[in-house]
Amino acid sequence: EIVRQLEEACATPTERLKQVAQAMAAEMHAGLLAADAGGSKLRMLPSFVDKLPTGDEEGLFYGLDLGGTNFRVLRVQLGGKERGIIEQESKEVPIPPHLMFGSSDELFDFIAIELADFAAKDCLIEGGRQREIGFTFSFPMRQSSVSTGVLVKWTKGFSIDETVGKDISVELTEAMERQHLDMRVAALVNPNIFPVDPPRTLVAFIHRILRFKMHCALEMQVNDAVGTLAGSRFYDKDVVLAVILGTGTNAAYVESSSAIPRCHGLQPQSGEMIFEKLISGMYLGELVRRVLLRLAEEAALFGDTVPSKLEEPFILTTPVVSAMNHDTTSNLGVVGSKLKEIFGVDGTSMDTRRMVVRICDAIAERAARLAAAGIAGVLLKQGRVGSDDGKKKAVVAVDGGLFEHYSKFRRCVKSTLRELLGEDDSESAVIKLANDGSSIGAALVAASHSHWPLMVR
Ligand code: BG6
Repeated sequence: EIVRQLEEACATPTERLKQVAQAMAAEMHAGLLAADAGGSKLRMLPSFVDKLPTGDEEGLFYGLDLGGTNFRVLRVQLGGKERGIIEQESKEVPIPPHLMFGSSDELFDFIAIELADFAAKDCLIEGGRQREIGFTFSFPMRQSSVSTGVLVKWTKGFSIDETVGKDISVELTEAMERQHLDMRVAALVNPNIFPVDPPRTLVAFIHRILRFKMHCALEMQVNDAVGTLAGSRFYDKDVVLAVILGTGTNAAYVESSSAIPRCHGLQPQSGEMIFEKLISGMYLGELVRRVLLRLAEEAALFGDTVPSKLEEPFILTTPVVSAMNHDTTSNLGVVGSKLKEIFGVDGTSMDTRRMVVRICDAIAERAARLAAAGIAGVLLKQGRVGSDDGKKKAVVAVDGGLFEHYSKFRRCVKSTLRELLGEDDSESAVIKLANDGSSIGAALVAASHSHWPLMVR
């Protein structure tokens, strides 16, 4: 009965998803209208990236990427239209968990040390040449230019109070100085846009913004989506939207400056918006654990006693849920061994294992269908569906561990998007995996905003 109730509560009929898509588009409007991104339930955070890579970029650039679970550093040699990417090298390291709760200096020193180690091969740096870096920092930031961003809050399990309210590029630059690295965070300032002091009034600020087409990222972590958009657009001009479905959820698209109103005060619609917690990799495991705990308490799923490990928040991770959900063995052996490994429950019956799979299915399917509704909502906001513009091809570049590794989830996102768009539009919007697109995207954004003339890049 409890599982049946869960499945009923998790049901996402097409009509309901269409409402979600419309609500998403409406919240995006409201978020754009809100004077302050914090004033709307859906944060619409301008990225200040005013040009996407075109393929003409040349020179040697670095990309850094502090995302969900890993830190990445990348170096790319760009050869312009003719030669494209001449050489690319990258390194990926898991973020040591203790740094997620330590001090700001410890975290940024870790980044700078990894960068210094990686850049040691670049002898030009030792020779004193200053390199430009694009930095993908996938947490909510309030930016006032392409090179400065103040951390609004940590997400995805990070919690370092002293960093909140600080400028992330300053934190990184200081750490690089401590490592004697002669590099600058360039991904960000476009001197043509903000040549002087920051604007003093909001009106002046908006006026400056209005002169440019901007990228807006919705929801939490801005930059990985912006990076993915930039990286994917380099290869495919039809990419109109980048979505991250990983530890966290967010999206970036190119917004027309005319969509940002000169007047303020419009309030977003009321109602709850907990969208990300139903979808993201960070939460899916925890949702399944909570259901299992209820079943253990109320229906003795694991016998007379509730396993104590089952009461530990976040002990069940999404990769484990994915492994159980993809178990193709006849005795659901993977499910059995995971239940033993994580919760210490031995000898589970086939019925119990089947029930666990059903729960994983219900939670993952709801997440995937809602994610597709979110994507449909952004396409709706962009006028890509249900209009003449919808006939143009739209490619949605998706990155993130959840989408990449949880194949049932990925297949369900794709099929639900087709279901939502209907026959007329289903061929015009295509979802593509953009694996690790944001590191290269960050380097490309640095390239397209470079301060240096070609000969010294
Ligand atoms: C990576 C991107 O591929 O995916 C990161 O390079 C992004 O920028 C990350 O944050 C998200 O995935 P996850 O699963 O690590 O949160």
